[in-house]
Amino acid sequence: MAALQIIVTGANGQLGKEFKDLSEATDHHFTFLPSSDLDISNRSAVMTFFTTNKVDVVLNCAAYTKVDLAETEKNKAYDVNANGVKNLLDAMSDDCIMLHYSTDYVYQAKSGTAIRETESTHPANVYAASKLAGDKHVLESRKKAIVLRTSWVYSSYGNNFVKTMLRLADKLSELKVVNDQIGSPTYAADLAISSLSIIKKLLTSRQESLFNKVYHYSNSGAISWYEFAKEIFAQADKNIRLYGIPTTEYPTPASRPSWSVLNCDLLQSTFDVRVKDWKESLMTCLHKLK
Ligand SMILES: NC(=O)c1ccc[n+]([C@@H]2O[C@H](COP(=O)([O-])OP(=O)(O)OC[C@H]3O[C@@H](n4cnc5c(N)ncnc54)[C@H](OP(=O)(O)O)[C@@H]3O)[C@@H](O)[C@H]2O)c1
Repeated sequence: MAALQIIVTGANGQLGKEFKDLSEATDHHFTFLPSSDLDISNRSAVMTFFTTNKVDVVLNCAAYTKVDLAETEKNKAYDVNANGVKNLLDAMSDDCIMLHYSTDYVYQAKSGTAIRETESTHPANVYAASKLAGDKHVLESRKKAIVLRTSWVYSSYGNNFVKTMLRLADKLSELKVVNDQIGSPTYAADLAISSLSIIKKLLTSRQESLFNKVYHYSNSGAISWYEFAKEIFAQADKNIRLYGIPTTEYPTPASRPSWSVLNCDLLQSTFDVRVKDWKESLMTCLHKLK
């Protein structure tokens, strides 16, 4: 595959930074664009960027991700998560490819069966609704773009559950964590590596039918936040008493789905990508954090 001009929007986020780490080991030419360099909600700035730069691939890691704050900042969430996505799609040339990242929060599925891409969407909060609006732009577009819905993302970069647990373990002797929300953690570094394989397949297969679709990506496993915390403390050798509590004892402004386990079969069979076990990936991340 010839070297590609790849842009990464939201480059200072968890996923954006994982692409930065990966980029050095590829032959492609990456341009990392933090929000200060390209605000995707600024339509004229996006249009100008694409008319003055050659872009083969967009990795859209830019998102308004403050789930609770979005309840009171609805316009800001939609500006980035919906209008920003449309701006990128409109600015892209017909040959340009976009991987757009989205969230498990668009679903409120019945527990027990891993959620397939065909599941109906019922966003439980403003953030999820704004992400779904962005996804719809991708699905309705004639540009070459796909939606990768992922869940419970963590990394050695940014703010996330793993880093919060490690910080709290050094400060507290006991901790209560919600045990009735079930999902699958996703190590952002795995998602970044898989994204590069997906780009390769999209470019080499030349199958138009692969575009304007939703694919799921998470690490494998179905656990509660409580079980996730327990494993973090076990692997990091932290001594802290942990108690499981129901969501009702930890109210948040935005409600969260109680079942967020994504079925990733479609992505694995379409793109020859293997999702890793969540414990294995957690170990890799903790090792990097050391
Ligand atoms: N984190 C999760 O648990 C999770 C779960 C499911 C899905 N996802 C999705 O996965 C993707 C990556 O998430 P992440 O965890 O890497 O998010 P993140 O760490 O919050 O990074 C998002 C980045 O987007 C940037 N951004 C915000 N508004 C922007 C704008 N108008 N223009 C350009 N950039 C802007 C932010 O920059 P500033 O800091 O400068 O604002 C930030 O660096 C997102 O689409 C997210 O919705 C995340």
